[in-house]
Amino acid sequence: MAEIDIRGFRILQGYLEGAAQESLVQDLRQVILAAPLFSPLTPYGKPMSVRMTSAGRYGWYADRRGYCYRPRHPQGGPWPPIPEAILQIWRALVSAERDPDCCLINFYGEGARMGMHQDRDEADFTWPVLSVSLGDEGLFRIGNETRGGKTESIWLNSGDVVVMGGAARLTYHGVDRIRFGSSRLLPKGGRINLTCRVVD
Ligand code: SIN
Ligand code: FE2
Repeated sequence: MAEIDIRGFRILQGYLEGAAQESLVQDLRQVILAAPLFSPLTPYGKPMSVRMTSAGRYGWYADRRGYCYRPRHPQGGPWPPIPEAILQIWRALVSAERDPDCCLINFYGEGARMGMHQDRDEADFTWPVLSVSLGDEGLFRIGNETRGGKTESIWLNSGDVVVMGGAARLTYHGVDRIRFGSSRLLPKGGRINLTCRVVD
């Protein structure tokens, strides 16, 4: 494992070994069966290219009115519990005192990307956001606390974990593109990114 710091983003490369990644994918399959992936709408009314679902007390949701956390999946049921293996990563790297309220599951198929944004729908920014990457490589871009300016990019690989906290908690970030088919973790290709958040 190697640890690097880019603008306060703590990047733990190869934090999860292969067997742990495979077992997480199995856990996530169960979550997605109970809470199917959907494409949220942007404020412009266009569906996002990334498909999403959540686990935990809250799930992240977006439609024309904006972004919010909701206690229920759009189909009406509660979100499934956050898998224990994900909570263990959070407890080891963020806090053993408080578990996250939401684990957002982002699925990037071929051509999917995520524009530069801040994660600011949570009540308390003293809690970091923890990100886990699985499957295909994704080009992660790190900007500044305000939109624009110079940026730095890094490829996130399967098993990499990023802690976005402290001064970096409100830094703009996004995913420019993925290298579809670069990993064999997901037989049909694609990238999964998990982000765990304390919401309220
Ligand atoms: C996000 O910022 O919500 C996703 C980051 C990633 O996919 O690596
Ligand atoms: Fe984000």
